[in-house]
Amino acid sequence: RSILHSELRGEDIIVVSNREPYIHQRIDGRIEVQRPASGLVTALEPIMRACSGTWIAHGSGTADREVVDRFDRVAVPPETPAYQIRRVWLSKEEEKGYYYGFSNEGLWPLCHIAHVRPTFRTSDWTQYVAVNRKFAKAVVSESRTKNPIVLVQDYHFALLPKMIREVLPDATIITFWHIPWPNPESFAICPWRDEVLEGMLGSSILGFHTQFHCNNFVDTVDRFIEARVDRESFTVSYGGKLTAVRRYPISIEWPPAPEMVQKPVPDCRSNIRQLHKLPAEHKLGVGVDRLDYTKGITERFHAIERLLELNPEWVGRFTFVQIAAPTRSGIEEYQHHESQVRDMAMRINSRFDSNLPPPIVLKVEHHEPREVYEYFRAADLCFVSSLHDGMNLVAKEFVAARDDDRGVLILSQFTGAARELPEALIVNPYDADQCAAALHLALTMPADEQRDRMRLMRGLVAEFNVFRWAGRMLLDAAAMRRRSRLLDKNG
Ligand code: G6P
Repeated sequence: RSILHSELRGEDIIVVSNREPYIHQRIDGRIEVQRPASGLVTALEPIMRACSGTWIAHGSGTADREVVDRFDRVAVPPETPAYQIRRVWLSKEEEKGYYYGFSNEGLWPLCHIAHVRPTFRTSDWTQYVAVNRKFAKAVVSESRTKNPIVLVQDYHFALLPKMIREVLPDATIITFWHIPWPNPESFAICPWRDEVLEGMLGSSILGFHTQFHCNNFVDTVDRFIEARVDRESFTVSYGGKLTAVRRYPISIEWPPAPEMVQKPVPDCRSNIRQLHKLPAEHKLGVGVDRLDYTKGITERFHAIERLLELNPEWVGRFTFVQIAAPTRSGIEEYQHHESQVRDMAMRINSRFDSNLPPPIVLKVEHHEPREVYEYFRAADLCFVSSLHDGMNLVAKEFVAARDDDRGVLILSQFTGAARELPEALIVNPYDADQCAAALHLALTMPADEQRDRMRLMRGLVAEFNVFRWAGRMLLDAAAMRRRSRLLDKNG
Protein backbone atom coordinates (compact mmCIF):
# COMPACT_ATOMS: atom_id res chain seq x y z
CA ARG A 1 0.00 0.00 0.00
CA SER A 2 2.82 2.41 0.83
CA ILE A 3 4.58 1.63 -2.48
CA LEU A 4 1.38 2.62 -4.22
CA HIS A 5 1.31 5.89 -2.31
CA SER A 6 4.92 6.75 -3.06
CA GLU A 7 4.97 5.65 -6.72
CA LEU A 8 1.75 7.39 -7.56
CA ARG A 9 2.05 10.63 -5.63
CA GLY A 10 1.09 13.47 -7.96
CA GLU A 11 0.25 11.15 -10.88
CA ASP A 12 -2.92 11.66 -12.86
CA ILE A 13 -4.79 8.37 -12.34
CA ILE A 14 -8.01 7.41 -14.04
CA VAL A 15 -9.84 4.10 -13.75
CA VAL A 16 -12.50 3.18 -16.29
CA SER A 17 -14.97 0.38 -15.70
CA ASN A 18 -18.54 -0.28 -16.63
CA ARG A 19 -19.68 -1.00 -13.10
CA GLU A 20 -19.60 1.85 -10.58
CA PRO A 21 -18.12 1.14 -7.16
CA TYR A 22 -21.15 2.68 -5.42
CA ILE A 23 -24.70 2.78 -6.70
CA HIS A 24 -26.82 5.74 -5.65
CA GLN A 25 -30.47 4.81 -5.99
CA ARG A 26 -33.84 5.77 -4.65
CA ILE A 27 -35.40 3.25 -2.30
CA ASP A 28 -38.75 4.22 -0.74
CA GLY A 29 -38.20 7.85 -1.69
CA ARG A 30 -34.74 8.08 -0.08
CA ILE A 31 -31.39 7.97 -1.89
CA GLU A 32 -29.45 4.95 -0.66
CA VAL A 33 -25.95 3.81 -1.50
CA GLN A 34 -25.25 0.18 -2.40
CA ARG A 35 -22.08 -1.78 -3.19
CA PRO A 36 -22.53 -3.94 -6.33
CA ALA A 37 -21.60 -7.65 -6.46
CA SER A 38 -18.54 -7.58 -8.69
CA GLY A 39 -15.09 -9.09 -8.28
CA LEU A 40 -13.66 -6.17 -10.20
CA VAL A 41 -15.12 -3.61 -7.81
CA THR A 42 -14.03 -5.68 -4.79
CA ALA A 43 -10.47 -5.59 -6.07
CA LEU A 44 -10.19 -2.00 -7.31
CA GLU A 45 -11.98 -0.17 -4.55
CA PRO A 46 -9.17 -0.50 -1.95
CA ILE A 47 -6.64 0.61 -4.58
CA MET A 48 -8.61 3.73 -5.36
CA ARG A 49 -9.02 4.44 -1.67
CA ALA A 50 -5.25 4.20 -1.33
CA CYS A 51 -4.26 6.43 -4.24
CA SER A 52 -7.32 8.62 -4.99
CA GLY A 53 -7.85 9.75 -8.59
CA THR A 54 -10.99 9.52 -10.70
CA TRP A 55 -13.10 6.45 -11.40
CA ILE A 56 -15.17 6.79 -14.58
CA ALA A 57 -18.12 4.38 -14.74
CA HIS A 58 -21.51 3.86 -16.27
CA GLY A 59 -24.10 5.49 -14.00
CA SER A 60 -26.86 2.99 -13.38
CA GLY A 61 -29.54 5.40 -12.08
CA THR A 62 -30.25 7.00 -15.45
CA ALA A 63 -34.03 6.94 -15.02
CA ASP A 64 -33.89 9.11 -11.92
CA ARG A 65 -33.43 12.82 -12.67
CA GLU A 66 -32.31 13.68 -9.15
CA VAL A 67 -29.65 10.93 -9.15
CA VAL A 68 -28.40 12.10 -12.54
CA ASP A 69 -28.14 15.71 -11.40
CA ARG A 70 -26.76 15.21 -7.93
CA PHE A 71 -24.44 12.27 -8.47
CA ASP A 72 -22.91 13.01 -11.83
CA ARG A 73 -19.67 13.48 -9.95
CA VAL A 74 -19.37 12.42 -6.35
CA ALA A 75 -16.67 11.82 -3.77
CA VAL A 76 -16.69 8.33 -2.22
CA PRO A 77 -16.68 6.25 -0.01
CA PRO A 78 -19.64 8.12 1.47
CA GLU A 79 -18.27 7.90 5.06
CA THR A 80 -14.67 8.88 4.29
CA PRO A 81 -14.35 10.39 0.79
CA ALA A 82 -11.03 9.43 -0.81
CA TYR A 83 -11.59 9.57 -4.57
CA GLN A 84 -14.07 10.75 -7.21
CA ILE A 85 -16.65 8.87 -9.25
CA ARG A 86 -17.41 10.49 -12.60
CA ARG A 87 -20.50 8.90 -14.13
CA VAL A 88 -21.16 8.46 -17.83
CA TRP A 89 -24.90 8.23 -18.50
CA LEU A 90 -26.14 5.93 -21.23
CA SER A 91 -29.43 5.93 -23.09
CA LYS A 92 -31.61 2.79 -23.09
CA GLU A 93 -30.43 1.96 -26.64
CA GLU A 94 -26.79 2.43 -25.73
CA GLU A 95 -27.15 0.24 -22.65
CA LYS A 96 -29.03 -2.41 -24.61
CA GLY A 97 -26.49 -2.66 -27.42
CA TYR A 98 -23.25 -2.05 -25.54
CA TYR A 99 -23.90 -3.70 -22.16
CA TYR A 100 -26.60 -6.35 -22.60
CA GLY A 101 -25.81 -7.00 -26.24
CA PHE A 102 -22.19 -7.00 -27.39
CA SER A 103 -20.58 -7.18 -23.92
CA ASN A 104 -22.82 -9.76 -22.26
CA GLU A 105 -24.40 -11.75 -25.08
CA GLY A 106 -21.30 -11.56 -27.28
CA LEU A 107 -17.95 -11.25 -25.49
CA TRP A 108 -18.99 -12.81 -22.15
CA PRO A 109 -20.05 -16.25 -23.49
CA LEU A 110 -17.36 -16.04 -26.20
CA CYS A 111 -14.58 -15.76 -23.62
CA HIS A 112 -16.02 -18.18 -21.05
CA ILE A 113 -16.86 -21.03 -23.41
CA ALA A 114 -19.60 -22.19 -21.04
CA HIS A 115 -21.92 -23.77 -23.59
CA VAL A 116 -23.97 -20.66 -24.18
CA ARG A 117 -23.70 -19.67 -27.78
CA PRO A 118 -22.51 -16.06 -28.23
CA THR A 119 -24.87 -13.74 -30.09
CA PHE A 120 -23.45 -11.04 -32.33
CA ARG A 121 -25.70 -8.31 -33.72
CA THR A 122 -24.50 -5.44 -35.87
CA SER A 123 -26.75 -3.05 -33.93
CA ASP A 124 -25.07 -4.09 -30.64
CA TRP A 125 -21.63 -3.62 -32.13
CA THR A 126 -22.57 -0.12 -33.31
CA GLN A 127 -23.58 0.85 -29.76
CA TYR A 128 -20.49 -0.81 -28.31
CA VAL A 129 -18.28 1.34 -30.56
CA ALA A 130 -20.29 4.48 -29.73
CA VAL A 131 -20.17 3.87 -25.97
CA ASN A 132 -16.44 3.14 -26.05
CA ARG A 133 -16.05 6.46 -27.84
CA LYS A 134 -18.16 8.21 -25.19
CA PHE A 135 -15.90 6.85 -22.44
CA ALA A 136 -12.78 7.83 -24.41
CA LYS A 137 -14.08 11.40 -24.45
CA ALA A 138 -14.70 11.23 -20.69
CA VAL A 139 -11.11 10.03 -20.13
CA VAL A 140 -9.71 12.87 -22.22
CA SER A 141 -11.82 15.47 -20.44
CA GLU A 142 -10.92 14.09 -16.99
CA SER A 143 -7.16 13.92 -17.57
CA ARG A 144 -5.23 16.81 -16.09
CA THR A 145 -2.07 16.06 -18.08
CA LYS A 146 -1.06 14.81 -21.52
CA ASN A 147 0.23 11.57 -20.10
CA PRO A 148 -2.18 10.22 -17.49
CA ILE A 149 -2.08 6.66 -16.23
CA VAL A 150 -5.37 5.12 -17.34
CA LEU A 151 -6.53 1.80 -15.93
CA VAL A 152 -9.07 0.33 -18.36
CA GLN A 153 -11.13 -2.49 -16.88
CA ASP A 154 -12.55 -5.44 -18.70
CA TYR A 155 -14.35 -6.62 -21.80
CA HIS A 156 -16.78 -3.70 -21.94
CA PHE A 157 -13.93 -1.52 -23.21
CA ALA A 158 -11.87 -3.49 -25.72
CA LEU A 159 -11.79 -0.50 -28.09
CA LEU A 160 -11.02 2.15 -25.52
CA PRO A 161 -7.20 1.78 -25.40
CA LYS A 162 -6.83 2.56 -29.11
CA MET A 163 -9.34 5.42 -28.91
CA ILE A 164 -7.52 7.02 -25.96
CA ARG A 165 -4.14 6.51 -27.62
CA GLU A 166 -5.31 8.43 -30.73
CA VAL A 167 -5.91 11.56 -28.64
CA LEU A 168 -3.36 11.08 -25.85
CA PRO A 169 -0.42 9.32 -27.54
CA ASP A 170 1.74 9.58 -24.39
CA ALA A 171 -0.78 8.14 -21.96
CA THR A 172 0.21 5.00 -20.10
CA ILE A 173 -2.75 2.70 -20.67
CA ILE A 174 -3.00 -0.41 -18.52
CA THR A 175 -5.85 -2.65 -19.61
CA PHE A 176 -6.92 -5.50 -17.41
CA TRP A 177 -9.12 -8.26 -18.85
CA HIS A 178 -10.92 -9.73 -15.85
CA ILE A 179 -12.38 -12.70 -17.69
CA PRO A 180 -10.69 -15.62 -19.49
CA TRP A 181 -9.24 -15.33 -22.98
CA PRO A 182 -10.13 -18.35 -25.13
CA ASN A 183 -8.01 -20.10 -27.74
CA PRO A 184 -7.67 -18.51 -31.22
CA GLU A 185 -10.20 -20.85 -32.90
CA SER A 186 -12.88 -20.00 -30.35
CA PHE A 187 -12.20 -16.28 -30.43
CA ALA A 188 -12.23 -16.20 -34.22
CA ILE A 189 -16.01 -16.57 -34.45
CA CYS A 190 -16.38 -12.93 -33.38
CA PRO A 191 -17.27 -10.96 -36.52
CA TRP A 192 -15.28 -7.97 -35.20
CA ARG A 193 -12.30 -10.07 -34.16
CA ASP A 194 -9.63 -7.81 -35.70
CA GLU A 195 -11.19 -4.57 -34.43
CA VAL A 196 -11.31 -5.97 -30.88
CA LEU A 197 -7.66 -7.07 -31.04
CA GLU A 198 -6.48 -3.79 -32.56
CA GLY A 199 -8.42 -1.84 -29.94
CA MET A 200 -6.76 -3.75 -27.10
CA LEU A 201 -3.32 -3.29 -28.62
CA GLY A 202 -3.63 0.44 -27.94
CA SER A 203 -2.63 -0.54 -24.37
CA SER A 204 0.87 -0.12 -22.97
CA ILE A 205 0.31 -3.10 -20.71
CA LEU A 206 -2.36 -5.74 -21.14
CA GLY A 207 -3.02 -7.91 -18.11
CA PHE A 208 -4.74 -11.27 -17.60
CA HIS A 209 -5.09 -13.43 -14.48
CA THR A 210 -3.16 -16.46 -15.73
CA GLN A 211 -0.26 -17.20 -18.07
CA PHE A 212 -2.61 -19.48 -19.98
CA HIS A 213 -4.84 -16.53 -20.89
CA CYS A 214 -1.77 -14.45 -21.88
CA ASN A 215 -0.65 -17.28 -24.17
CA ASN A 216 -4.12 -17.56 -25.71
CA PHE A 217 -4.21 -13.83 -26.38
CA VAL A 218 -0.76 -13.72 -27.97
CA ASP A 219 -1.63 -16.79 -30.09
CA THR A 220 -4.82 -15.07 -31.25
CA VAL A 221 -2.96 -11.91 -32.25
CA ASP A 222 -0.25 -13.94 -33.98
CA ARG A 223 -2.82 -15.90 -35.95
CA PHE A 224 -5.06 -13.08 -37.14
CA ILE A 225 -3.36 -9.71 -37.39
CA GLU A 226 -0.16 -8.34 -38.89
CA ALA A 227 1.66 -7.74 -35.64
CA ARG A 228 5.13 -8.74 -34.49
CA VAL A 229 4.95 -11.06 -31.52
CA ASP A 230 8.02 -11.57 -29.34
CA ARG A 231 7.55 -14.64 -27.18
CA GLU A 232 10.77 -14.01 -25.29
CA SER A 233 9.65 -10.69 -23.81
CA PHE A 234 5.93 -11.38 -24.27
CA THR A 235 5.35 -8.18 -26.18
CA VAL A 236 3.35 -7.38 -29.29
CA SER A 237 4.46 -4.67 -31.65
CA TYR A 238 1.66 -3.23 -33.75
CA GLY A 239 1.41 0.05 -35.66
CA GLY A 240 4.69 1.27 -34.18
CA LYS A 241 3.48 0.72 -30.62
CA LEU A 242 4.56 -1.90 -28.11
CA THR A 243 2.16 -3.75 -25.79
CA ALA A 244 3.48 -5.89 -22.95
CA VAL A 245 1.20 -8.85 -22.22
CA ARG A 246 1.50 -9.82 -18.56
CA ARG A 247 0.03 -12.07 -15.93
CA TYR A 248 -1.25 -10.27 -12.83
CA PRO A 249 -3.43 -12.57 -10.72
CA ILE A 250 -5.99 -10.38 -8.99
CA SER A 251 -6.65 -10.63 -5.29
CA ILE A 252 -8.45 -9.03 -2.37
CA GLU A 253 -7.69 -6.62 0.42
CA TRP A 254 -5.50 -8.09 3.17
CA PRO A 255 -5.97 -7.95 6.05
CA PRO A 256 -9.73 -7.76 5.52
CA ALA A 257 -11.37 -4.55 6.72
CA PRO A 258 -11.87 -4.88 10.52
CA GLU A 259 -15.67 -4.62 10.32
CA MET A 260 -15.75 -7.76 8.14
CA VAL A 261 -14.24 -9.96 10.80
CA GLN A 262 -15.35 -8.13 13.91
CA LYS A 263 -18.01 -10.61 14.98
CA PRO A 264 -16.35 -13.70 16.49
CA VAL A 265 -16.67 -16.94 14.51
CA PRO A 266 -18.76 -18.73 17.20
CA ASP A 267 -21.27 -15.84 17.14
CA CYS A 268 -21.47 -15.97 13.35
CA ARG A 269 -22.00 -19.73 13.52
CA SER A 270 -24.86 -19.49 15.98
CA ASN A 271 -26.47 -16.39 14.41
CA ILE A 272 -26.70 -17.88 10.94
CA ARG A 273 -27.97 -21.20 12.26
CA GLN A 274 -30.63 -19.43 14.29
CA LEU A 275 -31.59 -17.29 11.31
CA HIS A 276 -32.25 -20.42 9.25
CA LYS A 277 -33.79 -22.34 12.19
CA LEU A 278 -31.04 -24.95 12.15
CA PRO A 279 -29.74 -26.85 15.18
CA ALA A 280 -26.47 -25.61 16.72
CA GLU A 281 -24.38 -28.52 15.42
CA HIS A 282 -25.93 -28.52 11.94
CA LYS A 283 -23.39 -28.63 9.08
CA LEU A 284 -23.49 -25.62 6.82
CA GLY A 285 -22.15 -25.10 3.31
CA VAL A 286 -22.16 -21.79 1.50
CA GLY A 287 -22.01 -20.59 -2.10
CA VAL A 288 -21.86 -16.91 -3.07
CA ASP A 289 -22.16 -15.88 -6.70
CA ARG A 290 -23.81 -13.58 -9.11
CA LEU A 291 -26.68 -15.57 -10.63
CA ASP A 292 -24.68 -16.28 -13.76
CA TYR A 293 -24.60 -19.44 -15.88
CA THR A 294 -20.78 -19.50 -15.81
CA LYS A 295 -20.79 -20.07 -12.03
CA GLY A 296 -21.95 -23.69 -12.22
CA ILE A 297 -24.78 -23.31 -9.70
CA THR A 298 -26.92 -26.09 -11.18
CA GLU A 299 -23.85 -28.37 -11.27
CA ARG A 300 -23.31 -27.52 -7.58
CA PHE A 301 -26.90 -28.43 -6.69
CA HIS A 302 -26.54 -31.63 -8.64
CA ALA A 303 -23.46 -32.51 -6.55
CA ILE A 304 -25.39 -31.82 -3.33
CA GLU A 305 -28.16 -34.12 -4.53
CA ARG A 306 -25.58 -36.82 -5.32
CA LEU A 307 -24.04 -36.41 -1.86
CA LEU A 308 -27.41 -37.06 -0.25
CA GLU A 309 -28.03 -40.09 -2.49
CA LEU A 310 -24.62 -41.60 -1.82
CA ASN A 311 -24.36 -40.58 1.86
CA PRO A 312 -27.92 -40.42 3.21
CA GLU A 313 -26.58 -39.80 6.71
CA TRP A 314 -26.30 -36.11 5.70
CA VAL A 315 -30.01 -35.75 4.96
CA GLY A 316 -31.36 -33.34 7.58
CA ARG A 317 -27.86 -32.74 8.97
CA PHE A 318 -26.39 -30.62 6.19
CA THR A 319 -27.76 -27.47 4.55
CA PHE A 320 -26.24 -25.52 1.71
CA VAL A 321 -27.04 -21.80 1.62
CA GLN A 322 -26.69 -20.39 -1.88
CA ILE A 323 -26.51 -16.61 -2.02
CA ALA A 324 -27.18 -15.57 -5.60
CA ALA A 325 -27.04 -11.89 -6.53
CA PRO A 326 -29.33 -11.09 -9.45
CA THR A 327 -27.39 -9.89 -12.49
CA ARG A 328 -28.04 -8.95 -16.14
CA SER A 329 -31.67 -9.99 -15.75
CA GLY A 330 -32.56 -8.14 -18.95
CA ILE A 331 -30.96 -11.00 -20.90
CA GLU A 332 -33.15 -14.00 -21.71
CA GLU A 333 -30.42 -16.54 -20.98
CA TYR A 334 -30.15 -15.15 -17.43
CA GLN A 335 -33.93 -15.28 -16.89
CA HIS A 336 -33.93 -18.87 -18.07
CA HIS A 337 -30.98 -19.69 -15.83
CA GLU A 338 -32.68 -18.16 -12.80
CA SER A 339 -35.79 -20.28 -13.23
CA GLN A 340 -33.64 -23.37 -13.77
CA VAL A 341 -31.79 -22.70 -10.50
CA ARG A 342 -35.02 -22.03 -8.59
CA ASP A 343 -36.73 -25.16 -9.97
CA MET A 344 -33.77 -27.33 -9.19
CA ALA A 345 -33.51 -26.14 -5.57
CA MET A 346 -37.24 -26.80 -5.12
CA ARG A 347 -37.08 -30.22 -6.74
CA ILE A 348 -34.11 -31.35 -4.61
CA ASN A 349 -35.66 -30.02 -1.40
CA SER A 350 -38.94 -31.79 -2.11
CA ARG A 351 -37.16 -35.12 -2.70
CA PHE A 352 -36.06 -35.33 0.91
CA ASP A 353 -38.07 -35.47 4.17
CA SER A 354 -39.85 -32.13 4.54
CA ASN A 355 -39.85 -32.36 8.35
CA LEU A 356 -36.07 -32.09 8.36
CA PRO A 357 -34.00 -28.97 7.58
CA PRO A 358 -33.80 -28.58 3.78
CA PRO A 359 -30.66 -29.49 1.79
CA ILE A 360 -30.68 -26.15 -0.07
CA VAL A 361 -31.60 -22.61 0.93
CA LEU A 362 -31.59 -20.36 -2.11
CA LYS A 363 -31.41 -16.61 -1.50
CA VAL A 364 -31.76 -14.68 -4.74
CA GLU A 365 -31.01 -11.17 -3.50
CA HIS A 366 -28.26 -8.68 -2.99
CA HIS A 367 -26.18 -9.05 0.20
CA GLU A 368 -23.76 -6.46 1.51
CA PRO A 369 -20.14 -7.67 1.89
CA ARG A 370 -20.48 -7.75 5.69
CA GLU A 371 -23.41 -10.18 5.56
CA VAL A 372 -21.50 -12.35 3.09
CA TYR A 373 -18.53 -12.48 5.46
CA GLU A 374 -20.83 -13.57 8.29
CA TYR A 375 -21.94 -16.55 6.17
CA PHE A 376 -18.32 -17.35 5.31
CA ARG A 377 -17.41 -17.35 8.99
CA ALA A 378 -20.43 -19.45 9.91
CA ALA A 379 -19.90 -22.17 7.30
CA ASP A 380 -18.15 -25.53 7.46
CA LEU A 381 -17.41 -25.38 3.76
CA CYS A 382 -17.57 -23.05 0.77
CA PHE A 383 -18.20 -24.49 -2.69
CA VAL A 384 -17.03 -22.61 -5.82
CA SER A 385 -17.98 -24.58 -8.92
CA SER A 386 -17.48 -22.15 -11.82
CA LEU A 387 -17.47 -23.74 -15.26
CA HIS A 388 -14.90 -21.13 -16.25
CA ASP A 389 -13.75 -18.08 -14.31
CA GLY A 390 -10.91 -15.60 -14.81
CA MET A 391 -9.94 -15.71 -11.11
CA ASN A 392 -12.94 -16.00 -8.73
CA LEU A 393 -12.49 -13.81 -5.70
CA VAL A 394 -15.14 -15.59 -3.61
CA ALA A 395 -12.59 -18.36 -3.05
CA LYS A 396 -10.08 -15.83 -1.71
CA GLU A 397 -12.67 -14.01 0.38
CA PHE A 398 -13.72 -17.22 2.09
CA VAL A 399 -10.08 -17.86 2.97
CA ALA A 400 -9.64 -14.27 4.22
CA ALA A 401 -12.75 -14.61 6.39
CA ARG A 402 -11.43 -17.69 8.23
CA ASP A 403 -9.05 -16.27 10.80
CA ASP A 404 -9.98 -19.30 12.93
CA ASP A 405 -8.13 -21.53 10.39
CA ARG A 406 -11.21 -23.70 9.91
CA GLY A 407 -13.55 -24.40 7.03
CA VAL A 408 -12.94 -26.25 3.77
CA LEU A 409 -12.84 -24.71 0.33
CA ILE A 410 -14.07 -26.82 -2.60
CA LEU A 411 -12.83 -25.16 -5.77
CA SER A 412 -13.40 -25.71 -9.47
CA GLN A 413 -10.30 -26.53 -11.47
CA PHE A 414 -11.53 -24.09 -14.12
CA THR A 415 -10.95 -20.97 -12.04
CA GLY A 416 -7.77 -18.89 -12.03
CA ALA A 417 -7.87 -19.25 -8.22
CA ALA A 418 -7.32 -23.03 -8.46
CA ARG A 419 -3.78 -22.35 -9.72
CA GLU A 420 -2.99 -20.36 -6.60
CA LEU A 421 -4.88 -22.37 -3.98
CA PRO A 422 -3.97 -26.02 -4.56
CA GLU A 423 -4.74 -26.80 -0.88
CA ALA A 424 -8.43 -26.41 -1.63
CA LEU A 425 -10.29 -29.57 -2.65
CA ILE A 426 -9.95 -29.12 -6.40
CA VAL A 427 -12.84 -30.54 -8.45
CA ASN A 428 -14.23 -30.77 -11.94
CA PRO A 429 -17.71 -29.22 -11.56
CA TYR A 430 -19.05 -31.34 -14.43
CA ASP A 431 -18.25 -34.51 -12.44
CA ALA A 432 -21.10 -34.74 -9.90
CA ASP A 433 -19.73 -37.89 -8.24
CA GLN A 434 -16.33 -36.35 -7.72
CA CYS A 435 -17.92 -33.19 -6.29
CA ALA A 436 -20.16 -35.25 -4.01
CA ALA A 437 -17.08 -37.10 -2.73
CA ALA A 438 -15.36 -33.75 -2.09
CA LEU A 439 -18.42 -32.54 -0.15
CA HIS A 440 -18.35 -35.67 1.99
CA LEU A 441 -14.61 -35.30 2.54
CA ALA A 442 -15.07 -31.66 3.54
CA LEU A 443 -17.84 -32.55 5.99
CA THR A 444 -15.69 -35.18 7.67
CA MET A 445 -12.28 -33.50 7.48
CA PRO A 446 -10.42 -33.48 10.82
CA ALA A 447 -9.79 -30.05 12.34
CA ASP A 448 -6.00 -30.29 12.04
CA GLU A 449 -6.16 -31.01 8.33
CA GLN A 450 -8.56 -28.08 7.86
CA ARG A 451 -6.12 -25.90 9.74
CA ASP A 452 -3.07 -27.03 7.71
CA ARG A 453 -4.82 -26.39 4.41
CA MET A 454 -6.37 -23.11 5.51
CA ARG A 455 -3.05 -21.74 6.83
CA LEU A 456 -1.31 -22.39 3.51
CA MET A 457 -4.11 -20.70 1.60
CA ARG A 458 -4.19 -17.73 3.99
CA GLY A 459 -0.43 -17.36 3.57
CA LEU A 460 -0.86 -17.07 -0.19
CA VAL A 461 -3.70 -14.51 -0.02
CA ALA A 462 -1.85 -12.51 2.64
CA GLU A 463 1.26 -12.30 0.49
CA PHE A 464 -0.37 -11.76 -2.89
CA ASN A 465 -3.05 -9.31 -1.88
CA VAL A 466 -4.76 -6.80 -4.13
CA PHE A 467 -2.17 -4.13 -3.37
CA ARG A 468 0.45 -6.45 -4.84
CA TRP A 469 -1.76 -6.94 -7.92
CA ALA A 470 -2.13 -3.23 -8.56
CA GLY A 471 1.36 -2.47 -7.28
CA ARG A 472 3.03 -4.82 -9.76
CA MET A 473 1.05 -3.36 -12.65
CA LEU A 474 1.72 0.21 -11.64
CA LEU A 475 5.40 -0.43 -10.95
CA ASP A 476 5.74 -1.95 -14.42
CA ALA A 477 4.01 1.13 -15.81
CA ALA A 478 6.27 3.47 -13.83
CA ALA A 479 9.38 1.68 -15.15
CA MET A 480 8.02 1.99 -18.68
CA ARG A 481 7.47 5.73 -18.21
CA ARG A 482 10.99 6.22 -16.84
CA ARG A 483 12.46 4.32 -19.78
CA SER A 484 10.57 6.36 -22.36
CA ARG A 485 11.49 9.66 -20.65
CA LEU A 486 15.13 8.60 -20.85
CA LEU A 487 14.80 7.69 -24.53
CA ASP A 488 13.10 11.05 -25.27
CA LYS A 489 15.89 12.91 -23.49
CA ASN A 490 18.59 11.07 -25.37
CA GLY A 491 16.83 11.58 -28.68
C1 G6P B 1 -17.61 -9.92 -13.78
C2 G6P B 1 -17.03 -8.96 -14.77
C3 G6P B 1 -17.10 -7.54 -14.24
C4 G6P B 1 -18.51 -7.20 -13.83
C5 G6P B 1 -19.04 -8.22 -12.83
C6 G6P B 1 -20.49 -7.96 -12.48
O1 G6P B 1 -16.81 -9.99 -12.65
O2 G6P B 1 -15.72 -9.32 -15.09
O3 G6P B 1 -16.70 -6.63 -15.22
O4 G6P B 1 -18.58 -5.91 -13.25
O5 G6P B 1 -18.92 -9.50 -13.40
O6 G6P B 1 -21.31 -8.02 -13.60
P1 G6P B 1 -22.33 -6.87 -13.97
O7 G6P B 1 -22.72 -7.14 -15.36
O8 G6P B 1 -23.42 -7.01 -12.95
O9 G6P B 1 -21.56 -5.58 -13.80
